[in-house]
Amino acid sequence: MPTSANNRATTLPGKYYTDQEIYDRESEKLFSRKWIYVGREAAVKEAGDFFIHSQEGERIIIVRGGDGGLRAFFDLCRHRGTGLCSTDEGRFGKYITCPYHAWSYALDGELVSTPNMDETEGFQKEDYPLKSVACRTLLGAVFINLCEDPLDFETLFTPLAEKFRPWGIADLRLAHQIEYDIAANWKLIVQNYSECYHCPTVHPALNELSPFRATANDLEEGPLLGGPMEITRPGGGMTTTGERCAAHLPGLEGADLQRAYYYLVFPNMLVSLQPDFVLVHRLTRRGPARSLVTCEWLYHPDAISEPGFDPEPAIEFWDETNRQDWEICERSQRGVSSRAYTPGPYSSLATMLPVIDSHYLAAMS
Ligand code: FES
Ligand SMILES: [Fe+2]
Repeated sequence: MPTSANNRATTLPGKYYTDQEIYDRESEKLFSRKWIYVGREAAVKEAGDFFIHSQEGERIIIVRGGDGGLRAFFDLCRHRGTGLCSTDEGRFGKYITCPYHAWSYALDGELVSTPNMDETEGFQKEDYPLKSVACRTLLGAVFINLCEDPLDFETLFTPLAEKFRPWGIADLRLAHQIEYDIAANWKLIVQNYSECYHCPTVHPALNELSPFRATANDLEEGPLLGGPMEITRPGGGMTTTGERCAAHLPGLEGADLQRAYYYLVFPNMLVSLQPDFVLVHRLTRRGPARSLVTCEWLYHPDAISEPGFDPEPAIEFWDETNRQDWEICERSQRGVSSRAYTPGPYSSLATMLPVIDSHYLAAMS
């Protein structure tokens, strides 16, 4: 971890938030090698359903196959490289057909039709399937990895699956989603998420429901970093009313009923486990000083189908909290971009931040 002369952990130098060179190194070392959260599996339920995920200058097609399997492919035709998809989501028929010369691919990527190619000497369709991208699902979430030989997903993510099991995330349904465009480096967003030293000043309402000192870290290694915070009001929830919008998730018991857990799934997924719902933030880099964040509110299907179900108090509470966070992250971005900025000391109330920086720097080396 970065340290100052007296060996205290300090914030990262400004170049990590501003330099194109660092941004490009992150592309190579992190975002092209790590498992990246790209969306909910439920977005592609039926055969042919697809969505496009864009990162590192690539467009990746995530598509449900006729066999029910989920696959990912680079969005390019094997003939002359043309982009296959004209929309960012939708449903293919039985085939994915290139708009240029009408080569067609099955949903598993196999090239099945190539009009008027019969006289082309030596050409064999089986030599030209779509270029695939590693794709896995866990707890209803879809992850891809651009690396040709990625680290084993199951080994890395089994602890996550174990930890999150009681919340039954795979069964939850999307009740609401908001996308935010933020003028800040993605790491400022991650760091801000991972400490509540700022809660009394930036989130007075949140701090009222869940005091910033009632926090702990229970996972400090691997791709999963974070821990629980206590919810003060018995049976309460993190909403504008302080009440839950739904019954607690059926797999929860004991202390988990009075806690919210906050985890970074390194590098681009933030998972907030509440007693009655789960909030997921998906980060996408758009430049050294720009990030997109998609925030998803996930509820149990029984809660959603309950007459009078109204998640608005939770949506409003977290939308407000999000906006408070983004504003402070944008202010941080302006500050760390200044020639006058030098690394400052991390607080003892933000112990996760040196751990995250350390994890990040190790991945970048
Ligand atoms: S580029 Fe796709 S069929 Fe020619
Ligand atoms: Fe915050």
